[in-house]
Amino acid sequence: MPYQDLREFLAHLERAGQLRRVSVTFDVGRGTNELQALMRHLAANDGPALVLDNLVGCNTPGVPLVFNPYGTRERTAMILGTSDPVEAKLRHVGVLQDPSRWIKPRLVGRGEAPCKDVVIPREAVSVDRHIPHVFFGREGASYITGGVVVTKDPETGVRNVGAYRATSFWNGLHPQGGSYSDERMKKQLSVFAFWNPPMSHIGLHLARAQRLGRPLELAIACQVDPALHLASATGIPFGMDEYDYAGGLRGAPVDLVCCETVDLEVPATAEYVIEGVFRPDVPTDIIGWHSNAVGYYDKHQIFPVFDVTAITHRRDPLWYGTIEMMPPFDHNYMALMPVEGELLADLQRKIPEVRDAVVTPNMTYIVQLGVDGAARPHPEFGKYVLHAAWGAAGRWPRTAKIVIVVGPDVDPYDLGAVEWAIQTRVQPWSDIIINRAGQAMVLDPSAPKGPQGFPTVSEQMGIDATIKIPERFTDYAEVSQADPAQVQQVARKLAGIL
Ligand SMILES: Cc1cc2nc3c(=O)[nH]c(=O)nc-3n(C[C@H](O)[C@H](O)[C@H](O)COP(=O)(O)O)c2cc1C
Repeated sequence: MPYQDLREFLAHLERAGQLRRVSVTFDVGRGTNELQALMRHLAANDGPALVLDNLVGCNTPGVPLVFNPYGTRERTAMILGTSDPVEAKLRHVGVLQDPSRWIKPRLVGRGEAPCKDVVIPREAVSVDRHIPHVFFGREGASYITGGVVVTKDPETGVRNVGAYRATSFWNGLHPQGGSYSDERMKKQLSVFAFWNPPMSHIGLHLARAQRLGRPLELAIACQVDPALHLASATGIPFGMDEYDYAGGLRGAPVDLVCCETVDLEVPATAEYVIEGVFRPDVPTDIIGWHSNAVGYYDKHQIFPVFDVTAITHRRDPLWYGTIEMMPPFDHNYMALMPVEGELLADLQRKIPEVRDAVVTPNMTYIVQLGVDGAARPHPEFGKYVLHAAWGAAGRWPRTAKIVIVVGPDVDPYDLGAVEWAIQTRVQPWSDIIINRAGQAMVLDPSAPKGPQGFPTVSEQMGIDATIKIPERFTDYAEVSQADPAQVQQVARKLAGIL
């Protein structure tokens, strides 16, 4: 059964012993940094999801904060109704590969849309009062991190739904020591529409609107069924609708309701909906510091600003907060399953020998083959797969700084096993490709900056950790490792003793 909303997902986590309600106070004011410490503590201990209901330093103290719901691969898999990450990934890939399984959304009336419980019109909107603000680390601004952002292509009218964070200026620290105007703090927000990697679909919509001299409407639906979050974080082809893909993932249509002030539709059970419009001249502003997904602070970022035209929310709404920081962090896995899915769907379409693809929280890409040694189609097959990974569909794989290809006996989720394969199957000069002309992961501080002030080109490394039969050996040493079934037998024998 698909979840109707985030609440049903949280209830499921609670029944599975994966969620705790916490009434200890947490200070979420700017500069206190308690939430980043909490994130680190939970990540280091595979901690559960939390609902924090005793926040201090928050402008909306009555609104509980959902924290760390996706903090393990298992919980992220539960979005798709299983706690097995591989099974979830294969479901994600299966639906991605087959648009005939996608299901169109269903439009419902306002009466069936709890996101309309409270409607705040444009004149009354005040971001400082109507949107919860929680601060992390040394970040200058408070971010909206649980939103899916809906826009329509100004030329074709085709919808896009993407997971992009938004920034509030209220109570923000200006990175250059200036201050934000009252209008900016209370009536405007910003979306990370030009971000890493480039060519996000909202960015394309915005560029088209700007070229046509037209405004671009948007709606940010916050805290929805996490299957929709997953779909919106997946790079489906431009011109296709993530609501349809989400329907396929859920096995049931997403229920949508029309917005109040813009010609867009949002999930009826969202906790909050922020409606707005980018003016045709698309004003921008500077924000910072911002903590990024590779674990460093960006000192400043420039992003497009939009006017908020309405806010609606549920009665007793929930908020979600997360930070990007030195991995791992909560939404790592929520963001990685789509990248793994995009890569695997594309590689398997072209290369049947590809069995699995895993992307680590630090974004090392590991491709597992179903064949090795003499069973590979040709001696340099591992290198062919490395190039195919860099050339795979989606915005992410081309930015893979390190790609490793392993055989079927190496568990791609086990970095110790992957390291073992590199140590025992790789000769660095012969089996490593250095690509000097890769697309940069914009956030990587080791990549040299181009004239625009950010890196566009990066060096990349591909490691072929397959067994080099027949090109180098006729025979390979036997692996010395216990039989997994026998390990289980021994464990059973010792149950209650050890
Ligand atoms: C929680 C979360 C936050 C994200 N924030 C951004 C962001 O701010 N900007 C961005 O371009 N991509 C962001 N991403 C990645 C995009 O959602 C992903 O690349 C997606 O494919 C974008 O949709 P699009 O292909 O329709 O542009 C985020 C992903 C997650 C899971």
